[in-house]
Amino acid sequence: MRKLIIAGNWKMYKTIGETIELANALKRQLYDLGSETVDIVICPPFTSLSEAAEVVIESNIALGAQDMYWQEEGAFTGEVSAPMLKDAGVKYVIIGHSERRQFFSETNDSVNKKVKAALNYGLIPIMCVGESLKDREAGLTFKVLEDHVTGGLKDLGPEQVEKIIIAYEPVWAIGTGKTATPAQAQEAHKFIRDLVIKLYNKQTGELLRIQYGGSVKPENTKELMGQPDVDGALVGGASLKADSFSSIVKSSSEVKK
Ligand code: PGA
Repeated sequence: MRKLIIAGNWKMYKTIGETIELANALKRQLYDLGSETVDIVICPPFTSLSEAAEVVIESNIALGAQDMYWQEEGAFTGEVSAPMLKDAGVKYVIIGHSERRQFFSETNDSVNKKVKAALNYGLIPIMCVGESLKDREAGLTFKVLEDHVTGGLKDLGPEQVEKIIIAYEPVWAIGTGKTATPAQAQEAHKFIRDLVIKLYNKQTGELLRIQYGGSVKPENTKELMGQPDVDGALVGGASLKADSFSSIVKSSSEVKK
């Protein structure tokens, strides 16, 4: 059985003060949720990571970052490295989010370098993949998923891939209020899992956790999380309010598969 993992991607929202407030509210609302049911992650912006770490330390909430650079240190103005994230108390790191691919020239090659570096430093990458509306309408969904998955995982061994989380995020569903239907999500997740089984082996594919992302909200959580190959959610907008994120986490913890 794969444990569900619900992660909140706060994007470029929340000052330090707002981060402390939201993280404290989540801690209060989720404190009685046993860690055996679901993994909970919040990913605030870089500037808030240290303070968020102090709030969630020794709680059932783990900390994630939204990006990183693959070098350990050096003259790379504006970048943040994996050891720096570890030092700030980070456990997970989102890599290759579609907004980074779209606005900041992220490619499968840079995603692959970042995934490798994250693993080398003991961070768990949440590697994002997903097709645009244009891709879907042109019948290219599986082709894009195959490119993203094979490109992002290039040269990684099975024991490394087992540690990774893949987030399937159809770009047309992100921040649009349009959610993939549970059947569409299941179809894409199954494709990704079968591809990983083909590239590696059955065990690796079965252990791999695949999150769905794209307009996840309290009302659609149960149905999406109930799909056999959906192992969690990467939540944007609905993770910015304590009530809605807690409700998504709680509904997920009640899903029986
Ligand atoms: P959304 O964002 O939940 O606001 O659609 C998801 C994401 O971008 O990870």
